[in-house]
Amino acid sequence: MARGKLILIEGLDRTGKSTQSEKILSALGDEAVLLKFPDRTTRIGELINQYLTDSNFELPAQSIHLLFSANRWELNSEIHSLLEAGKHVILDRYVYSGVAYSAAKEIPGMDISWCFNPDKGLLKPDLTLFFSNQDSSSLQDREGFGEERYEKIEFQKRVRHTFSNVFDHISDPNRAIVDVSDRSIEEVFRYIEPLFRTVINKDLEGFTYF
Ligand code: TYD
Ligand code: MG
Repeated sequence: MARGKLILIEGLDRTGKSTQSEKILSALGDEAVLLKFPDRTTRIGELINQYLTDSNFELPAQSIHLLFSANRWELNSEIHSLLEAGKHVILDRYVYSGVAYSAAKEIPGMDISWCFNPDKGLLKPDLTLFFSNQDSSSLQDREGFGEERYEKIEFQKRVRHTFSNVFDHISDPNRAIVDVSDRSIEEVFRYIEPLFRTVINKDLEGFTYF
């Protein structure tokens, strides 16, 4: 049986990642599963959730970084098994968010290369769609924005800039940028559908790893 394909939706906040991930899932039906990082339901995920939602819960930047990575490693063998069983796995955030959000803190010594190290060896997606928009000012309008730790306009601007440095650092021919500015949900989906269908119809053997 052909292995399933690993499809990653990455991007800036407020670009419709979760909406489009759900739409891909509906389009593929029970051939696919959708996983979201951080997965807040595991033991490590509970700690991450506490860090994001409770401003009194402090952790060194290095520690929370490693927990986000550990959260991906927790699910790595499950993702591997799903793919081997022929299921397509859609991911909502993954390694690139992990590196970009931590490196954007600009902690001495915690550069992109340091941040990427613990994720080396994780399964690499067959397709990465990076959702981008023109600016971060619309964030303020989002219901609930500002409640979680990284939801500050200034920080989001640094994350935007850091993502492009992360893409320079981690090469990947199977990555595409999707500018969602002034595009409706349907327009974005029409743009990405041929991209993920092409990958799904490919006959790929073996896996690649970061
Ligand atoms: P998420 O639950 O995806 O939030 P949203 O629904 O706003 O997209 O992610 C929570 C936050 O965690 C988000 O600000 C991005 C950040 N993050 C990291 O800092 N490191 C990581 O490895 C991941 C996956 C997310
Ligand atoms: Mg959030």
